[in-house]
Amino acid sequence: MLSKEDNELLTRVHPGSATGELFRRYWIPALLSEEIPEPDCPPARVRLLGEDLVAFRDSAGRIGLLGEHCAHRGTSLFFGRNEECGLRCIYHGWKYDIEGKVLETPAEPAGSQLKNKVQHTAYPCVEAGGMVFTYMGPPEARPVFPAYTWLGVPQPQIYIAKSQLECNYLQALDGDCDSSHLNYLHKTFKPDGRHNALRHEDQAPTFEIDEMDFGFRVAAIRRIGAQRYVRVSQFVMPFIGCVPVGREVDGRLDGFKAVYQVPADDYTTWRYDFFFKYAKPMTREDSSKRDFVDAGYRKLRNLRNNYLQDRQAQKTVNFTGIEEFLNQDACATESMGAIADRTQEHLGVSDAYVIQVRKFLLKAVRDLQDGKAPPGLVFDPAQADFARVRCDVAYLPDGIAWRKIFDRTEEQR
Ligand code: FES
Ligand SMILES: [Fe+2]
Repeated sequence: MLSKEDNELLTRVHPGSATGELFRRYWIPALLSEEIPEPDCPPARVRLLGEDLVAFRDSAGRIGLLGEHCAHRGTSLFFGRNEECGLRCIYHGWKYDIEGKVLETPAEPAGSQLKNKVQHTAYPCVEAGGMVFTYMGPPEARPVFPAYTWLGVPQPQIYIAKSQLECNYLQALDGDCDSSHLNYLHKTFKPDGRHNALRHEDQAPTFEIDEMDFGFRVAAIRRIGAQRYVRVSQFVMPFIGCVPVGREVDGRLDGFKAVYQVPADDYTTWRYDFFFKYAKPMTREDSSKRDFVDAGYRKLRNLRNNYLQDRQAQKTVNFTGIEEFLNQDACATESMGAIADRTQEHLGVSDAYVIQVRKFLLKAVRDLQDGKAPPGLVFDPAQADFARVRCDVAYLPDGIAWRKIFDRTEEQR
């Protein structure tokens, strides 16, 4: 459980909140590239850390992320005209560039200096792996963009499922740090009704958890014959869970998944499931999750329609009677309420990792309040080693430590 104060501290992310300020120190996903697919296309609304923003791709292909409301009198720039390297408000024609500079105020008299006195809210953006990332913190504290392995693979090898969760980010993140739910929430049944164990899940694993500078590394270790089978997942600041879900080829994973739980505000989260393969393109089957959301990335199955739960399927098909693991996760986390009341929890041994991640986050929030730099940020490009952040599996004979294997970077393997 968490005290009321700690739960409040960790879940509030709106402007001015301590956790919101922490998250603003990181590069975080703002939207998908596909939402603003080409130069001068229509802008997209973005709600992030309690702020309403508008993203647009200008005539030169550069991306701007601006405060939604025009600095003149507040009309939404979402309705604006994206033309000739700027976004123009439809009310009186004020035009902004990607840096929030006011380029024109056409209703003002010639020689007016008004446009030079206004700096509109604008956040820098970096596009990578089909996503647009932004940095919303103080300019002088901006870290190196974390070019993780998955952001560097060619686009056909990537599949991203974006969905809106109608709850606070922390309960979604709790779910990413909780492998014990896999055998229940995501269990499927064989046609004869017997439980279908996940591969390698029959033996209870032992877990070894390492605190890292960027978060945590967790090894689930099982004995298979004379070998140990090790699966490594990671928690990466500020809200990324890396999960070893790829296919095994020659005892290695052919890719994995990075899940971002991005707070839109205190009560809503953008979940991005970023799947990738190191060497092969995604197949249609790999990317079959498109149709579980509408054009605004809102889930078709949601709390209002009880996730279209099928009670007969719950007896014979899977544990929940709900299709698709993303909907199953959403049901488990959204049904706790918009912000879970963690003063009422009864945590057990299986929640050890959830507890550790919450403590890590709480410490990061308090450290920042005391003026200490947030964990995992890199300010010197020469110090960057983002290849360390990865999941994999390994089959190891006794005598070979899994840490030795996973401490090496890809190039050294
Ligand atoms: S409100 Fe945007 S130009 Fe007047
Ligand atoms: Fe899950």
